[in-house]
Amino acid sequence: MTDGTSIKIGDRDYGVMSGSTGPDVIDIRKLYANTGMFTYDPGFTSTASCESGLTFIDGDEGVLLHRGYPIGQLAEHSSFMEVSYLLLNGELPNKEELDKFSYTITRHTMLHEQLATFYRGFRRDAHPMAVMCGIVGALSAFYHDSTDITDPYQRMVASHRLIAKMPTIAAMAYKYTIGQPFVYPKNSLSYTGNFLRMTFGVPAEEYVVNPVVERALDRIFILHADHEQNASTSTVRLAGSSGANPFACIAAGIACLWGPAHGGANEAALNMLREIGRPERIPEYIARAKDKNDPFRLMGFGHRVYKNYDPRATVMQKTVREVLTALNVTDPLFDVALQLEEMALKDDYFIEKKLFPNVDFYSGVILSAIGFPTTMFTALFALARTVGWVAQWNEMISDPDQKIGRPRQLYTGPVQRDYVAVDKR
Ligand code: CMC
Repeated sequence: MTDGTSIKIGDRDYGVMSGSTGPDVIDIRKLYANTGMFTYDPGFTSTASCESGLTFIDGDEGVLLHRGYPIGQLAEHSSFMEVSYLLLNGELPNKEELDKFSYTITRHTMLHEQLATFYRGFRRDAHPMAVMCGIVGALSAFYHDSTDITDPYQRMVASHRLIAKMPTIAAMAYKYTIGQPFVYPKNSLSYTGNFLRMTFGVPAEEYVVNPVVERALDRIFILHADHEQNASTSTVRLAGSSGANPFACIAAGIACLWGPAHGGANEAALNMLREIGRPERIPEYIARAKDKNDPFRLMGFGHRVYKNYDPRATVMQKTVREVLTALNVTDPLFDVALQLEEMALKDDYFIEKKLFPNVDFYSGVILSAIGFPTTMFTALFALARTVGWVAQWNEMISDPDQKIGRPRQLYTGPVQRDYVAVDKR
């Protein structure tokens, strides 16, 4: 909404819009028509790409709110199913609503049986994210009754299907790489307990879900559920703005999340900790991260929006301790991570650039203690972020002002010239 103030650009006034909290924005929609000029903002560091009521981040204060609720409170008291309902519907569910929602999600956990043969087309050493991109994109070929994006009911069914099927898809990707049989979902288990069983269970034995691991993983899912207009969410929105079906849009989000600057950082962070190996080697890696001529960066450190401690990293660090204690595991890499954080936070380079641990810094230590191989880390991120993606996608499609996303550019290529025949070049 406009707040009555405006900013002059050239000889015209441009209205200033205020949200419920956070920075105001300048409404430049008429700028090109009025001036013939575009704005230039590669990386969107100063651009609000949409209006949204889902997630709010105050990067300077290290605050993350989902529908107004602080992430720390949700991680402490809520469940991933409840947070999913909250993101999709705007309010926390009462008991009946939560039970109904969980029931609905549980009833969508199975995959079309033919998709099992689709997995067999991949090499056994395929990265789970490669498999996830392919399988999720392929869902649009299997669930034709939920691809009409103009029908709110079909949009809801597609959203439920994606949230429900993602654990099955991720677990099957893992089982395929290790050559074990796929394990079908079991509806008596929780969302997260079911995922653990499909990942680590085998048909030959009864799988007993460890409640501490189940709770920790559920909390990790909550921490990853949504994060405002990050790269993969913006990818989902941009893909969806053309009217593409939801399965195709989420496949696009998975592809974007894979990169090491985004969701792939959890895998890269643990690989980095392994490479460092011992606390004595930390100074060498800090020096490398500071060296302008060395492309190395401290993975799991720094964030586009947080210029303070990532509130998700705080919960994650606490959860590492709980999981290691519950599983009676001592992981020397956790000590390396703690000491690396301590040294980096005292270093002028990291202080000046406001680089703090992000959500990915500690998650790898927990996931590895639970038994996940590093290649599965980003797949777990994708699983959890699916709810954010579908909630953001639904919000966009429901917006009457929604139009196709079509950025412009500052062209620096050759100006018009005449074609030259090949023998004259
Ligand atoms: N280690 C060393 N230096 C860093 C780091 C780092 N991890 N992150 C940023 N810097 C430096 C960077 O070199 C630059 O220095 P200068 O101004 O002298 O050129 C300055 O800090 C600003 O960095 P930037 O790349 O311009 O900032 P950005 O907002 O474009 O990038 C980031 C944010 C997350 C991509 C970056 O901090 C990074 O590459 N971190 C490591 C990867 C990582 O942990 N990613 C997970 C992000 S959180 C989970 C998610 O959202 O997916």
